[in-house]
Amino acid sequence: MHLLRTPREAQAAVLAAEIIARELVLNPRLVLGLATGRTMEPVYAHLVHLHRVNGLDFSRCRTFNLDEYAGLPPSHPGSYHHYMAERLFRPVNLLPEQVALPDGMAPDLPAECRRYEALIEQAGGIDFLLLGLGQTGHIGFNEPPAAFDSRTHAARLLPLTRKHNADQFGDNVHAVPATALTMGIGTILDARRCLLLVTGAKKAAILAQVLAGPVTPQVPGSALQRHPDCQVVVDEAAMLHGHQACDAGASFGKW
Ligand code: GLP
Repeated sequence: MHLLRTPREAQAAVLAAEIIARELVLNPRLVLGLATGRTMEPVYAHLVHLHRVNGLDFSRCRTFNLDEYAGLPPSHPGSYHHYMAERLFRPVNLLPEQVALPDGMAPDLPAECRRYEALIEQAGGIDFLLLGLGQTGHIGFNEPPAAFDSRTHAARLLPLTRKHNADQFGDNVHAVPATALTMGIGTILDARRCLLLVTGAKKAAILAQVLAGPVTPQVPGSALQRHPDCQVVVDEAAMLHGHQACDAGASFGKW
């Protein structure tokens, strides 16, 4: 893993957006994997800025989101369809036929997961995948213990994850779906390049495990240690435990 340290959250988000923009300029037909969550909001805001001010062009790329809640229509404000439409798809030149998320309303969820995997394969696989990290160590919605060879599947969400995400559901944890469709760890590891963005002190303890702890299903993000081309963009708050992990002699790759 290649670690890129920035002082604050805002700079980390801008750096992540600039890296994505560069990929898109180098390859306008980029197949781009996308994440959601609060961490990504300033990333999408900066991509929209680059589109408006610098003419960053999305017209030939394809996007695949990591995950979506089961049972929510795209119009639901808590759905990731809604999140993406508001923050990126509508403000830039991305048409509905260019973008894909798992369909959480599909009557047959396993069939929908197979369809999503096939769609990614037909697109030639994911060139560049943006990832966030959950406090449980999840990437996408792969909660611990996570099978490292898993493909897109329906996953149960841990109580901590539902609590963390309750703000999109009127702070009612019971309104947060308990099931989501998510790319599997195997799907994620197949992406040609990954960028993990982690900010804030609340993520520091789990980030230290992801970067320098054992590669274990108990810390799903640790699977990224096995990825041959994974950049990790962090702010200083998220690195609070990083020095301790480093002192413990753990390997941080290109630290
Ligand atoms: C969410 C999403 C992930 C996201 C992670 C972190 O629940 N499923 O794709 O990266 O958890 O979210 P946040 O940035 O809000 O901390």
